[in-house]
Amino acid sequence: MPLAQLKPNWRQRILERLRGVAPWNAARISDEWFRAHFTYAADLVHAWLHPGVDLRSARLLNFGCGDGITDLALVLRYGATAIHGVDIRREYAKLPRIAREQLGLARLPCALSFETIAPGAPLAGRHKDLDAVLSWSTFEHVQRAQLLPILRDLHACLRPGGVFFMQIEPLFYSPFGSHLRRYIETPWQHLLVDEDALWQAIQAHQGTLDAAEVDFGFADFGAQGYKKFVFDEYLALNRLTADELLDLATQAGFSVLREERRMVDLPIPAALQGRYPPEVLLNNELLLLLQK
Ligand SMILES: C[S@@+](CC[C@H](N)C(=O)[O-])C[C@H]1O[C@@H](n2cnc3c(N)ncnc32)[C@H](O)[C@@H]1O
Repeated sequence: MPLAQLKPNWRQRILERLRGVAPWNAARISDEWFRAHFTYAADLVHAWLHPGVDLRSARLLNFGCGDGITDLALVLRYGATAIHGVDIRREYAKLPRIAREQLGLARLPCALSFETIAPGAPLAGRHKDLDAVLSWSTFEHVQRAQLLPILRDLHACLRPGGVFFMQIEPLFYSPFGSHLRRYIETPWQHLLVDEDALWQAIQAHQGTLDAAEVDFGFADFGAQGYKKFVFDEYLALNRLTADELLDLATQAGFSVLREERRMVDLPIPAALQGRYPPEVLLNNELLLLLQK
């Protein structure tokens, strides 16, 4: 059972059928986090799904949808007509307000629905014959023991031939794989010093954060609470490598249609040479298109 849901009611559906999707204006965007998801993330998802998946007729699921900005962009900018977002948090509940502020959008399109799930809760019983699943910067946060069951469950959600587009950035062993770059600018610092030193560096951080790295949860936590939240997220990272993920995806029954490992061009510190393979240390991002 979903823990909470956000889905359009019949009144909204009739209204949208009569008047169309509410008007919106991308020129109003002022928040860099919003811009990055509304443009870059949505463009990349679309580029990887297109032309195999026709967003105008496809049924999609976004696993780890967060605040749902990317889903909204896929509907408004690329004409997607059915995207269901699931997440263990409820950041998507902010989307109506965020979309009003950033786009002047009076109501969310009926193409969007969201639900909160318990970690690892199976979805395939309620979501079947999907054309595509997508997941953006999420699989590095899933607990290790849940990875294979979740991949198997997402495989079961898809129709035969359906696809799963997955993006992970930054991968754990890459220079900023700690996800702590908002506070710590030294590449690979998380592999060079212990957790106490990392936490002290975060606590000592003063000043503003890169706006593109600050999500809409910041306002809930405040500056100090956000430091704790981000550090706890670091501690919970599953430290997955690209090879491990591909192996798990194959075990879950997927075949790999397309794969891209993006590498960074930075000198590996002497202290890490010989401790980790260079191709793991330099692999910052993984883009995958899997097929059932
Ligand atoms: C870095 S955020 C990315 C959110 C969103 N995809 C985006 O691009 O903004 C990672 C998301 O994964 C979600 N998440 C972590 N573990 C999960 C799980 N087992 N099932 C579903 N969502 C999960 C988190 O709650 C969080 O919203």
